[in-house]
Amino acid sequence: MSYNDLFSLNGKKAVVTGGCGYLGREIVKGLSDFGAEVVVVDWNISPIEDTNAHYIKCDLGNTSNIKDVMKEAAGANECIDVLITLAANLGAGVLNDVETMDDEYWAKGIDGTVGYTFRSIREAIPYMKNSTSGSIINIGSLYAVGAPDPRTYFDTPFSSTPNYGAGKAATVELTKFCASYLAKYGIRANSVSPGSYPHTNVQENALFKKRLEDKTMLGRIGYPEDLVGVMIFLASEASKYITGINIMVDGGQTAW
Ligand SMILES: NC(=O)c1ccc[n+]([C@@H]2O[C@H](COP(=O)([O-])OP(=O)(O)OC[C@H]3O[C@@H](n4cnc5c(N)ncnc54)[C@H](O)[C@@H]3O)[C@@H](O)[C@H]2O)c1
Repeated sequence: MSYNDLFSLNGKKAVVTGGCGYLGREIVKGLSDFGAEVVVVDWNISPIEDTNAHYIKCDLGNTSNIKDVMKEAAGANECIDVLITLAANLGAGVLNDVETMDDEYWAKGIDGTVGYTFRSIREAIPYMKNSTSGSIINIGSLYAVGAPDPRTYFDTPFSSTPNYGAGKAATVELTKFCASYLAKYGIRANSVSPGSYPHTNVQENALFKKRLEDKTMLGRIGYPEDLVGVMIFLASEASKYITGINIMVDGGQTAW
């Protein structure tokens, strides 16, 4: 037996929500390079270079939109093999919002993380049941497993909010629930939790970047390409006996 094709995604249909974002674009490119037919679902479409991805504009805050999108993405053979749920919408906020955040804003952050994820999974399940190798990959965060350190943000324009970490922790738990329930359909579910992957404009703040680097064992921030390998692994047959786990891709940040 040859293992040359162990990571191949040839013949697989992958749907990536939030695929036009900072991390998503590189992941879409990686999936395409490994042979997947990729459908990107985003409300802000900007085509990704060097891919032949198909794009569907959609607001993941709206259930009927997502239902239509998954039907379109599944196509004539009504099948989705891989679902990657990157889309998130948090709004701005700061750490001390925990003292003042109103119910509406709290709910917005929870919906913009685990709500989008749940809705995408629910509408994709009918089509993933038709796959022989269904794989759901949700996105957690280092703040799904630990709190933001206020010293990282002090004296910078950056922050994090209480509903973000809560929504991401819920996403990791939702993943385990799905792994347990969907196993009977042959569908696996795992989450990937990125550490610190500041966008390029944020990287320009040298103080903040250095603080993030110092938090990791590997001494550097994450870049979008650091997530491609784990996505290929979880999407492919290479991980066919893995379900219900959360993989930290954080340069060791949460391991010490
Ligand atoms: N960048 C990091 O440091 C980091 C760290 C940990 C986890 N994450 C998670 O990784 C994922 C991707 O992060 P990113 O840095 O690429 O963010 P990003 O903002 O660049 O990308 C998010 C994408 O989701 C889309 N989106 C937002 N709301 C939508 C809606 N209602 N309907 C459809 N599309 C919508 C946006 O248009 C965007 O393309 C998010 O879930 C984020 O929480 C990021």
